[in-house]
Amino acid sequence: MTGATEALPDFDLVLFGATGDLAMRKLVPALFALEARDMSQPGARIFAIARSEYSTEGYRDAVETALRRHLPERFDPAIANRLLARIEYRTVASDSAAAMRSLAAELRPADACERLFYLAVPPGVMVDICDDLAAAGLNRNSRIVLEKPIGHDQASCRATNDAVGRYFDEDQIFRIDHYLGKESVQNLLALRFGNALFETLWNRQSISHVQISVSETVGVEGRAPYYDGVGALRDMVQNHILQVLAAIAMEPPMQLDEGCVRDEKVKVLRSLVPITGGGVSQATVRGQYRGGIINGEPVCGYLEEQGVDPASHSETYAAIHCEIANWRWAGVPFYLRTGKRMARRLAEIVIFFRPVAHDIFGTVSELPFPNRLVIRLNPDDSLDLNMLAKMPGERIRLAPITLNLSFEQAFRQRTADAYERLLMDLINNRLMLFVRRDEIEQAWAWIDPIEQGWAESTAPPRGYNAGTWGPQAASALVARGGHSWSEEL
Ligand code: BG6
Repeated sequence: MTGATEALPDFDLVLFGATGDLAMRKLVPALFALEARDMSQPGARIFAIARSEYSTEGYRDAVETALRRHLPERFDPAIANRLLARIEYRTVASDSAAAMRSLAAELRPADACERLFYLAVPPGVMVDICDDLAAAGLNRNSRIVLEKPIGHDQASCRATNDAVGRYFDEDQIFRIDHYLGKESVQNLLALRFGNALFETLWNRQSISHVQISVSETVGVEGRAPYYDGVGALRDMVQNHILQVLAAIAMEPPMQLDEGCVRDEKVKVLRSLVPITGGGVSQATVRGQYRGGIINGEPVCGYLEEQGVDPASHSETYAAIHCEIANWRWAGVPFYLRTGKRMARRLAEIVIFFRPVAHDIFGTVSELPFPNRLVIRLNPDDSLDLNMLAKMPGERIRLAPITLNLSFEQAFRQRTADAYERLLMDLINNRLMLFVRRDEIEQAWAWIDPIEQGWAESTAPPRGYNAGTWGPQAASALVARGGHSWSEEL
């Protein structure tokens, strides 16, 4: 598991988009964590590539500042120095093909170490970089990481996959979805397929419905140029939430390998009942935050955020009622929702088990869904099982109790962050927690008609005040199925 400190194979990692927000906020801290675990070989090197003019020294300073900022409690100058010493910065200006040729001369031969290209860049430049890599002969015996977004619909995703696929085979392509690197998502597989307990109940006979919620308190955080025009459905649902859904709903894979696990996930995505035409307004809600209060501080509305089109219809909130058409899940509602500037930062899966068939206590049926399994991804990785138990005393009276398991406390070790975990898998050439081409294209195929329905609607997204749980209409969406969002119970 994540506490493993086995040494990684030696590598040359080339990081495109090295000055960007993702690199500084997530990738550099993840590389620091590998260093702290003492996993990297002495010779492992990192080539940071971007357009900005930096010297290697200047870039190393920027990395150190980012580490101090993003890892205030874990920062250690000795570890940071070891990491910084591995980094070389190279500017890629106008002649990118020439820059790639000189990079090729600096990299070690592909049989000497793992050769990894990490594309933390906007989708528009992804294909150009692949062209340049291939022209410099760097596509052979190497691996490439593609960050989201890969396309904005199925057609553009296919076009990118085709273009990258001209030079890289599918088993060289690591499409990252950092939710798959989260400890709780992997624990979901352990829970389901390592224990006989839940799997027998994991179906329409025992489960009433499922909720997947990812709520954030942050707004667009200076990412308006990317986010506006993309919105919550493409930013969060198409990838993270559908991947989590697939992990919950998949059939047991024949074995724990990339082929079997990804085969089962794609079957779930194919079984999602399409939401099209008039069904879109019935089964979905899109919202956009207005001004409000977050953590006691006033915040502006989405349309007032810097860089956002004041007439934008981009949604910062999406809720969907979906169903999976197969024998295990037919008729079980899956409610998905995500939003920015919500009441709390939370990412959780709640499995609502059906109530008892016959209530001998006379009070059980008054409590809505007493048996709930809550798998929490944010803010911490944990698992709660809600049950009823007898309250102490002479009479038999039942009250809700919770069996709680925090993974970090149970195993008494820090669990790896998602990017840290996925970087280890990349270096070790393990594809299981990365997204295969058919999965991502299938996810878009399901998302596209919802986007289309929203685009054709003249109604703007529904407003909700920052610091709340989203638009009222989202409560009505679940109420139509006879349910409530978990925080309303
Ligand atoms: C990213 C989205 O993929 O995931 C962001 O682009 C979002 O908009 C982030 O904030 C959420 O990740 P996490 O790990 O903080 O839940």
